[in-house]
Amino acid sequence: MQNNTEDIIKPDSSEGVLNEIIQSLSKSQKELSCKFFYDEQGSILFEQISELEEYYLTRSEISILNNNIENISDTVGEEALILELGSGSSRKIRILLDNFKRVAAYIPVDISREFLLQSAKKLGQEYENLKIIPIVADYTRPFTIPDFEMPFSRLVAYYPGSTIGNFTKDQARKFLKNISELCGPKSGLLIGIDLKKESEILEKAYNDGKGVTAEFNLNILKNMNSTFGTNFEINKWKHIAFYNEEHGRVEMHLQSLEEQSVRLNGTSITFKKDETIHTENSYKYSIEEFKDMIEPFYSLNNVWSDPGNKFAVCYFEAK
Ligand code: AVI
Repeated sequence: MQNNTEDIIKPDSSEGVLNEIIQSLSKSQKELSCKFFYDEQGSILFEQISELEEYYLTRSEISILNNNIENISDTVGEEALILELGSGSSRKIRILLDNFKRVAAYIPVDISREFLLQSAKKLGQEYENLKIIPIVADYTRPFTIPDFEMPFSRLVAYYPGSTIGNFTKDQARKFLKNISELCGPKSGLLIGIDLKKESEILEKAYNDGKGVTAEFNLNILKNMNSTFGTNFEINKWKHIAFYNEEHGRVEMHLQSLEEQSVRLNGTSITFKKDETIHTENSYKYSIEEFKDMIEPFYSLNNVWSDPGNKFAVCYFEAK
């Protein structure tokens, strides 16, 4: 660890996870939480997805950042304390760190200790004068940020990637309310949102030609087997993704190719032929919709988008 980083460890909360999985697989529409996608292999597959021709999200967001960085930097202001929720690929944060004026400190928050500390170390080597304070925590649950001695103008929560789309609308609202309270009045929220568009483009993005998204979806079952000792037979499942117009979301499911049973900690769960496990929602928003959803605690300050209006980077200010 570089001496410009400090390691603040919060314990992982894994209690009850097995029960949570059994409950999810006992519902009439069986489900598995999309948080189980991201084991090591899942994270590698997600990186590959972000490079795919059809998956425009990452490319669009990066080009929005690159094309508007001066204006984004002026909007956020000098001496910002950047709190990144989930430290994914550091490509995006580098654009901010390279261009924001006198960043007070960078605080990446991530549940995966190894990954977080490794990327913090790497970043610390490149940005020698930057104070980096990694926090190991599940940022979707309440967590605290340490008191800072260094001066800063405002705390800015950074939440790229349209990861907010993986929450239900209710969860998204509550989560961002908590973040606004954690960061305080006048704090900033710089967030990436995937915009509503023709279903054809959306469905292609989640059904790529190379089958990487299918592999990513099926990997959740492999993760179940290795982490929780289930006996899912991967070749008996098929990847499905479609745009649900009514709910404004892309849904990913795994469909059972035959009637089958799976063991989970002494419980046997039966799947009918064609029955699905719902593995992910990816909500798409209009700016107006998103603004209204968090209106009680955030006001919209600025929006940057790509020429095709596929994706938006928005800056909100906490009330
Ligand atoms: C991480 N998240 C924003 C991605 C999405 O688009 O919802 C995860 C993903 N699922 C399938 N492809 C990518």
